[in-house]
Amino acid sequence: MSSITVIGTQWGDEGKGKIVDWLSAQADIVVRFQGGHNAGHTLVVNGEVYKLNLLPSGIVRRGTLSIIGNGVVVNPWHLLEEIEKVRLQSVEVSPDNLLLSESACLILPPHWEVDQARERASGTGKIGTTGRGIGPAYEDKVARRAIRVCDLFDAKLLQERVAQLVKHHNIYLQAYGASEIKAEALFEDLQKLVPKLKPYVGQSWRVLGEAKNKRILFEGAQGVMLDIDHGTYPFVTSSNTIAANAFIGCGFVAENNHVLGVAKAYTTRVGSGPFPTRETGKAGDVMGERGAEFGTVTGRQRGCGWFDSVQMRQAVQVAGIQSLVLTKIDVLDAFENIPVCVAYELDNQRIDYLPAGQLSQASVKPIYEHLPGWQSVTQGIHNWSDMPAQAKAYVERLEQLAGVPISVISTSPEREDTILRFQQAAEDSIDMPDKFNIVTLAEARV
Ligand code: IMP
Repeated sequence: MSSITVIGTQWGDEGKGKIVDWLSAQADIVVRFQGGHNAGHTLVVNGEVYKLNLLPSGIVRRGTLSIIGNGVVVNPWHLLEEIEKVRLQSVEVSPDNLLLSESACLILPPHWEVDQARERASGTGKIGTTGRGIGPAYEDKVARRAIRVCDLFDAKLLQERVAQLVKHHNIYLQAYGASEIKAEALFEDLQKLVPKLKPYVGQSWRVLGEAKNKRILFEGAQGVMLDIDHGTYPFVTSSNTIAANAFIGCGFVAENNHVLGVAKAYTTRVGSGPFPTRETGKAGDVMGERGAEFGTVTGRQRGCGWFDSVQMRQAVQVAGIQSLVLTKIDVLDAFENIPVCVAYELDNQRIDYLPAGQLSQASVKPIYEHLPGWQSVTQGIHNWSDMPAQAKAYVERLEQLAGVPISVISTSPEREDTILRFQQAAEDSIDMPDKFNIVTLAEARV
């Protein structure tokens, strides 16, 4: 058995879709383990574009089992709509290729109503959530108030739990001046879903436990800096986005797992919160335009800035990342010189980590090292040897600063525009991790 966990290393939107799509073509099982339909994964397979929020990327691949693990928060209406949407694109979805964990917690109307009302009431202090109820749903999980998928199949219990849940949230909704939820109507709506959802429901821990000699891809959503424990709290999502959560989020511990972090060659962020290397001048606009930096879920424009190696080193450490995929390097083709953040300044001191405090995070100033740009086209390159010397030097410097090898470089959204650096690792004497499962999982795919 070999497995890979793919996670974002920055604030999400690192371009995980392309790499996950590429790896899922080789995987037998693809597992989502956290987050919900706040994620937006775009896949391009044989020219067809699929936009997924909740379904694991394996769904578009014949013969691949997709698992929505217990750690995911599931909006059941959205799930059914997404299934219908991909069916319209000729994707087969059946209990043979989709499993929904019976222990996953549901996102229900009170969750998105509270999420949105809270954001509206927060003024400048808002988190900038996707408004999809993710936070309130995880709050209910921890408060032991959530309704789980398995509760749908016991009408009496469901009715009671819906009544309790709605009572709790109506207090907030009333206080926010928002419309209250009617428990009975919600209960009836949920009952209508039962026959549609039931065929997919099962035990992720058991199915994974019985899988022998399978290649498993754990598909992370968001990024390390949005992790509830290790991110820029409180401007984070409400789940653990790091690889350590993959096993909790499906009830299975994979041995010999490779943790692959996906990093943009620069940095972007949507929503509120600290972003030390944000570039508010023209350079930021250039990156935004060249990189088409608009959110796939909310359509919001993403802030853009330079690569932050302080943040990256920390992400690599807390998430146990063994190698990196560097995406969108072609976006930097336009620049004469490229700043890279190598340390922060805080209270006249040089520091090499992102402090935990909200105020400190907002106050750190990046200290830059300036690397020469290459000002030529890297878009579409698929051999390391064809990269301009300055681009190679840029990658090697990031690698040195991040502390792990950059095993894959993406030079455009097209699948073939990918440099498999690990294949050249031996020649270039790059020290790649021992348990390097990408080779077995992704062999000769590009
Ligand atoms: P929530 O996950 O909707 O609660 O939003 C919390 C924060 O995470 C906000 O800053 C969102 O913009 C951000 N966020 C959530 N999901 C994604 C994602 O898939 N990509 C990028 N940012 C995200």
